Amino acid sequence: MATTAENGFKIEHLNVSYMSRGARVNALKDFSLSMKENESVGLLGESGAGKSTVGWAVLGMIEEPNIVTGSIGFGGENVLSMSKSELNEYRWKDAAMIFQGSLNTLDPLTTVGRSLVELLMYKHFCKTKEEAQELSLKTLQVLGLGESTMDAYPHQLSGGMRQRVAIAMAISTDPSMLIADEPTTALDTITQASILRLISKLRYEKRIRNVLFISHDVAVHAFLADRVIVMFRGRSVEEGSTKEVVKNPLHPYTKLLMSSVRIDSSKEAVIAPLGEEESSERGCPYLNYCPHAMAVCADSFPEVTTVTEGHTVACFLYGGK
Ligand SMILES: Nc1ncnc2c1ncn2[C@@H]1O[C@H](COP(=O)(O)OP(=O)(O)OP(=O)(O)O)[C@@H](O)[C@H]1O
Ligand SMILES: [Mg+2]
Repeated sequence: MATTAENGFKIEHLNVSYMSRGARVNALKDFSLSMKENESVGLLGESGAGKSTVGWAVLGMIEEPNIVTGSIGFGGENVLSMSKSELNEYRWKDAAMIFQGSLNTLDPLTTVGRSLVELLMYKHFCKTKEEAQELSLKTLQVLGLGESTMDAYPHQLSGGMRQRVAIAMAISTDPSMLIADEPTTALDTITQASILRLISKLRYEKRIRNVLFISHDVAVHAFLADRVIVMFRGRSVEEGSTKEVVKNPLHPYTKLLMSSVRIDSSKEAVIAPLGEEESSERGCPYLNYCPHAMAVCADSFPEVTTVTEGHTVACFLYGGK
């Protein structure tokens, strides 16, 4: 099994275009990300920013007629060049995903135990059914679920328990990369907090190592992500340690995001409504909403500027060319 420790995990210049009924949607534009061993990185941005698309691309799930270019390096291999059988080997054993809305997509006609056993057998992770049953039970216990959960159907479980089962499915094969797409959205606040604490505990215990957290919620990233990438309309506009980005946001869009979660009377509010307006393909996608827009912003997308160590921004206000 490849691990991110061997040659790390690196997305370089990823472009994804969906071809839907003759129309083209450019969901990711020149998107790059790299992750160190045992790091957790968060993707933050509003609906449609392309966050889930990053996750699907990492699992090699974007197929023709959609177009993917760039590279996704995992353990020295490019995921985008893998054959079907290589992808089948890589998915779940190397990289697994808790899909957005997964707490509602567990098979309603299959017990939790059977779903887990089928996954472990299908992925050849266990040699015998007994071994798979034992591992399923152990994994559920790690997630605070009792033995009776094995025989339960999804509708017999609460939302929080179903999300724990979805996490169990994703970590049962011991992947070195876990993509968690909106793992707490749609849960009540108390259950959200318990799931966040659980994921944090799993990381602390090294039960999960590299994690790519996808959420539109700044609080989730503040709790779980070492580093955060702010995305707007398919582009990465700012990146830095979560602490630094929350405390000292640079890009006007990040400032808007932070001001919407922070009540700070000493600072002028920068909240402006974001609409469905088509953003410029050539220039900065935030151009139409930016209170600081300049002529140059319409001409090209700014290069990434390093403002302080590890804190980068793509904005002409900071000297991007
Ligand atoms: N299969 C598809 N076919 C066509 N367009 C798609 C497809 N999947 C996603 N898109 C479009 O790609 C863009 C990025 O979508 P994506 O789901 O990655 O965003 P997101 O940041 O995860 O949003 P959300 O927060 O709502 O989950 C959106 O404009 C979306 O409508
Ligand atoms: Mg999404």
